[in-house]
Amino acid sequence: MCYAIPARVIKIEERFATVEYFGQKRKVLKDLLDFDIGDYVYVQAGMAIRKIPHLQAQSILKTWKVLFSKLKNQDESLINKSYSGLRLSKPYDAIIKKIDEKRRLSVTDYLYLLNGVSSDEGKFSQQLANRIRNKYIDNSCCIHGIIEISNYCVRDCLYCGIRKSNKKLKRYRLKLNQILEAVDYAVNSRGFKVLVLQAGEDAYYTKARVLEIIRKIRQKYAVLIFLSLGERSESDYQAFFDAGVRGALLRFESANPKIYSALRPEKKLEDRLKLIKSLKNIGYLVATGFLVGLPNETDTDILNNIKLTKKLKPEMYSFGPLIPHLDTPLASLKKIRLAKMLRVISLARIIDKKSRILVTTATETLAKPAKEKALSAGANSLMINVTPIDFRRLYDIYPNRRSRNIKVETQIARSLKLLYRLGRAPTDIGAQ
Ligand code: 5AD
Repeated sequence: MCYAIPARVIKIEERFATVEYFGQKRKVLKDLLDFDIGDYVYVQAGMAIRKIPHLQAQSILKTWKVLFSKLKNQDESLINKSYSGLRLSKPYDAIIKKIDEKRRLSVTDYLYLLNGVSSDEGKFSQQLANRIRNKYIDNSCCIHGIIEISNYCVRDCLYCGIRKSNKKLKRYRLKLNQILEAVDYAVNSRGFKVLVLQAGEDAYYTKARVLEIIRKIRQKYAVLIFLSLGERSESDYQAFFDAGVRGALLRFESANPKIYSALRPEKKLEDRLKLIKSLKNIGYLVATGFLVGLPNETDTDILNNIKLTKKLKPEMYSFGPLIPHLDTPLASLKKIRLAKMLRVISLARIIDKKSRILVTTATETLAKPAKEKALSAGANSLMINVTPIDFRRLYDIYPNRRSRNIKVETQIARSLKLLYRLGRAPTDIGAQ
């Protein structure tokens, strides 16, 4: 719901415009909206999406100005706190020195950060990652909404609870008017500016049906749409882009082709990566990432997952722990611990300093204070589930998903409370 801050347009070029907030300038894409110099606009993910009347913009800015500097101070004070008292070994110190001096780390160094660290060193890495986040991309934290429109799936991924072979699961598909109602509520009543529409790979959603949904949303709502509908042809994705979709969420799941094929019957990593690259070529903002804790996965695999995500230059990192589902072949797998997940998050931040890293619901599901810990270990984005509550428990990709029973208002109130406590601004102003 990102309380985007109204930005004033100060310059217009062909495809771009320059906008300004509190004296900071940003370049934004202007192809989704018509506007003039002097107008106020909301910007999401580098795109102007909605005009705001002058008076309203000025009053929002006035309120924001005070809160904004308060949050920045709070973030600063947390960043500068609590470094002392941690016991660090010599080899760890040597790695930290390399990071401080911006020297290249070796694979051994990275693996040490993933697996060799003591609990104190793990904490130190989290704080370091938090400082890097503050230094390179400041204190903004996006909050996107997600609507799970269908749990039908033609795939049989071994880890996933909505795989086609799970005959125990009751399937659902939201009707167009139910989707529009959910969008209306999210955008008009709750102020979301980015919404992800997610489903299994559901053959019902032909290109024409998806286009109809997109057009209806675009007719009425100034919202940035992300699609998370799995693998589809490049021409489908091109058509969705032409209809105004600008984001796609598609994880590559694992950078190890053997692990990938073992878990996704009949599927090849190569094809998935080709698709992700085509999405980028079309112009999509791509959120991508991987699962942590897959069978036969090593720490080198995890490191390669982070490196591959970086190489794909994503709009957002989306990775989370595999949470074994009882009605899948991976039922008896052990899930990873939160401490490990935090190491992965902080390493991702150390490796890709300016990135946007999402605290995924699966990470939140691992343990209760996970959201706060992840945000304090380098993460800087949240997702709120705005699927109508009766359907949420049926989108059962893994068990006991956090927030599946919690009303949207409550999820928002809790997230805002947490962000304010941590000194994070629920906006979309990345540093540039
Ligand atoms: N645990 C955690 N994440 C899962 N996903 C699928 N099954 C599980 C599970 N059991 C993730 C996949 C997919 C995303 C939509 O959900 O990474 O890309």
